[in-house]
Amino acid sequence: MKGVILAAGKGSRLFPVTHHIPKPLLPIANRPTLEYAFDRLKEIGVREIAIVVGDNEGEMRAALGDGSAFGLELSYVRQTEPKGLAHALTFAESFIDREPFVMYLGDAIYSEGFIQHAKRFIESGAANLNIVKPVEDPSRFGVANVDGERITKLVEKPKEPESNLAMAGLYFFGPEIWGVLPGLPPSARGEYEITDAIQRLIDGGHLVLAGVYEGTWFDTGTLDSFLETSAFLTGGKSLVGAAEVQGEVTESVVIGDGAKVSATRLVDCVVLPDANVQVTGTIRHAILGGTVVREGDVMDAILWD
Ligand code: DAU
Repeated sequence: MKGVILAAGKGSRLFPVTHHIPKPLLPIANRPTLEYAFDRLKEIGVREIAIVVGDNEGEMRAALGDGSAFGLELSYVRQTEPKGLAHALTFAESFIDREPFVMYLGDAIYSEGFIQHAKRFIESGAANLNIVKPVEDPSRFGVANVDGERITKLVEKPKEPESNLAMAGLYFFGPEIWGVLPGLPPSARGEYEITDAIQRLIDGGHLVLAGVYEGTWFDTGTLDSFLETSAFLTGGKSLVGAAEVQGEVTESVVIGDGAKVSATRLVDCVVLPDANVQVTGTIRHAILGGTVVREGDVMDAILWD
């Protein structure tokens, strides 16, 4: 099975850091975000992956190359503008051809793999299997109604969700998906939604399955979720690379290679590789890169001066 990773978003909720490092390359627990995706896809036998890139294409190609360093064959396809997940996928059609494939949202990180889900998808002959997970705040996600193992209805970010099952960023597709992408209308938020494309599969009578995910799923796109993921991956311990650090390093602190940090106290924060950070107080719940010089505490911040 081939894979498609969607990685063309702007990462605007992590500006200004993602202005300097594309979000898919941003290190979490000192590994670029996409390397976690590579691990999960390799586990289910995927070797050939198309990465959908945008303005970040040059940096992505330079950092990941042909994929041989990761035991993969990587190709890059360029999405002209980030107009939605269904729009992004259309650029991978000639790479996939008529084979079944898996689509992975580049900002997702998962604690457990998908071997059983991949097996079930292939054995079922379904047009599509979507990983779903019960969540407390479904209105932030694509939301699935299910009847037994089938998905019967999908709505993108509904104001009044009819279920608590969120689309969790991993999708298995057969070639039927290529038949429903052309002519898909944009949603109210102006994007071509993959949930709307899948609804077309359902309406066309195709078998669309839900695969409930039992592990922990992180969408790493905000300060809170980025730091939460970092803390999960390090088990709450601190991880200090080849860095010069002055000050008290407490729990959930990750400091990248080549960084220079001076602060009274560091708690629950990420200092990116090669950053130069001089803070007179405490750094708490923050991501810092570049050169940051501050009098006093740094809290709840994303900084790159
Ligand atoms: O996180 C799961 C959710 O992801 C699902 O529940 C939703 O149904 C799905 O629409 C999606 O919603 P988001 O609003 O969170 O998607 P986001 O814009 O964050 O994009 C997800 C990934 O896809 C991200 O890695 C960037 C990439 N992307 C996004 C867009 C809009 C592209 O490659 N091209 C695009 O045009």
